[in-house]
Amino acid sequence: MKQVEKLIKAAKQASKFAYAPYSKFKVGAAIMTDKGKIYTGVNIENASYGLTVCAERVAIFKGISEGKKKFKAIAIYTNTKNFTAPCGACLQVMQEFNPKLYVILINSKNEIKQYNLSSLLPHAFKF
Ligand code: THU
Repeated sequence: MKQVEKLIKAAKQASKFAYAPYSKFKVGAAIMTDKGKIYTGVNIENASYGLTVCAERVAIFKGISEGKKKFKAIAIYTNTKNFTAPCGACLQVMQEFNPKLYVILINSKNEIKQYNLSSLLPHAFKF
């Protein structure tokens, strides 16, 4: 199986573990390192709504916390007809580690959209 297909499958499988009792909107993300290792993430909500963490950041932080920060691609899956683009906060976190990250969106029809992070966040905050 091609690496991109593996990443997409991982994001899709992960979405089943999303903890989203409030929004009912389940998101699965999978990020791949330069060596092909995959870390998955899901959105994790909380009764105190503002504490919710997006799937993308969970995946990235899992990789970081295991010493990996050279990411090359992230896949994001939602079980909806519309594609879910990452929120601004997640885009900013992605660009911290790879401003040219390859971002793959997958919807419930298994349709795919592909972007370079720089096109989704052309004016990232940097100092
Ligand atoms: N969510 C994500 O997991 N990723 C995004 O990029 C946008 C939103 C989650 C957070 C919340 O649990 C639900 O989607 C609705 O906002």
